[in-house]
Amino acid sequence: MKINRRAALKVGGTGAVLAAAGGVWRAWEQGVWSAGEGPAYEPWRRWRSDPSEGPLALVRAAILAANPHNSQPWLFRVGASRIDLFADPARDIGAVDPDHREMYIGLGCALENLLLAAGARGLAWRLALMPDRAHATHVARIDLTPGPRATSELYEAIPHRHTNRGPYDRSRAVPPDLLDAMTRTAGDDARLSWLVSDTDRRRLGQLIVRATEAIVADDAQSRASARWFRFRWADVQRHRDGITIDANLTDPLMRVAAKMLPPLSRERSDRFWLAATRDTFVATAAGFGILSVHDARDNAQRLRGGRAWQRLHLQATARGLALQPLNQPTERADRERVLAIEPTFGRALTELVDDAAWQALMTFRVGYPTRPAALSPRRAAEALLI
Ligand SMILES: Cc1cc2nc3c(=O)[nH]c(=O)nc-3n(C[C@H](O)[C@H](O)[C@H](O)COP(=O)(O)O)c2cc1C
Repeated sequence: MKINRRAALKVGGTGAVLAAAGGVWRAWEQGVWSAGEGPAYEPWRRWRSDPSEGPLALVRAAILAANPHNSQPWLFRVGASRIDLFADPARDIGAVDPDHREMYIGLGCALENLLLAAGARGLAWRLALMPDRAHATHVARIDLTPGPRATSELYEAIPHRHTNRGPYDRSRAVPPDLLDAMTRTAGDDARLSWLVSDTDRRRLGQLIVRATEAIVADDAQSRASARWFRFRWADVQRHRDGITIDANLTDPLMRVAAKMLPPLSRERSDRFWLAATRDTFVATAAGFGILSVHDARDNAQRLRGGRAWQRLHLQATARGLALQPLNQPTERADRERVLAIEPTFGRALTELVDDAAWQALMTFRVGYPTRPAALSPRRAAEALLI
């Protein structure tokens, strides 16, 4: 059959236009041009827009805190001069955090932001941690009275703090006096150990990679983690939680590709995470840190450790540093304990901490960023009140 050349060109041209239109539609639908925009990101912009707002303003600061898998495991009861903070068991991240260690750390992070905002609004506070022994979900009670106004470098950094999962600048070491300042910021309730020598970095770096391999090989942990990945822009805006493509990928081209292509299967996503852990997170870290408390199974100490982590991340942000928790070793150590299996990672962490008086609460990397980190979505403060 003889094909009419002009007709063929016309069909081809129409196909190309349709494909381009489909591409534009897909890019729009997936928020390629809208990173950090929409209702899911409003809490970052509006958190202190009303200077006369009462205690609810403190909740708006609290919800911008770091928290495990962006599960936002918090609820608040707000009165005229009191705020009660509760854990939300519905936002449990399952086998990744079988002992709720990370949940309480995240609640401690929220508490720190809340208290910084109290000071900035001229409110003095009295804090009771775990005020009701009978209810482990009642995490803190904060009584507020008029007091001196106190803003700080840490308070000002609240809207700029983001977990940075991009490559860090390997040619730039973190000055020792800055590391010392951060050690002091951690306070007396938590101990911060820095691993910056080649040997120390290799030890913890290898442990983090091995723990990642173990998580990927553990079906329950892999599934629990995947539940919080948000590949679809519509889901980001609807759920306003979880780990997004924008937060996970700092490379602009990779971000576009990940948004345009169909979502990765769990297996491919796990392989990608393992490779990123080995080749980016660990390989480009200027150093690692271990944050420890005396008893990592005690909820009040976890909360204090969380407060320390939030302060550290805010201070790092203010000084141009990037941080990323890499909690795979502690996640595996908790998993080993609940499954009553060989404590490979538990033992390795004990050896790294090397002091019977302290237990690892979280492990992380530090360095100077090469790319900015993106905002993570947040649910509105009003939706979190009980
Ligand atoms: C206790 C705890 C554990 C975390 N573990 C990890 C981790 O292992 N890997 C990671 O990339 N981020 C980790 N994060 C960072 C959270 O995923 C992040 O805080 C959350 O997604 C919100 O994003 P943002 O910090 O940019 O606001 C952890 C945070 C907390 C508080």
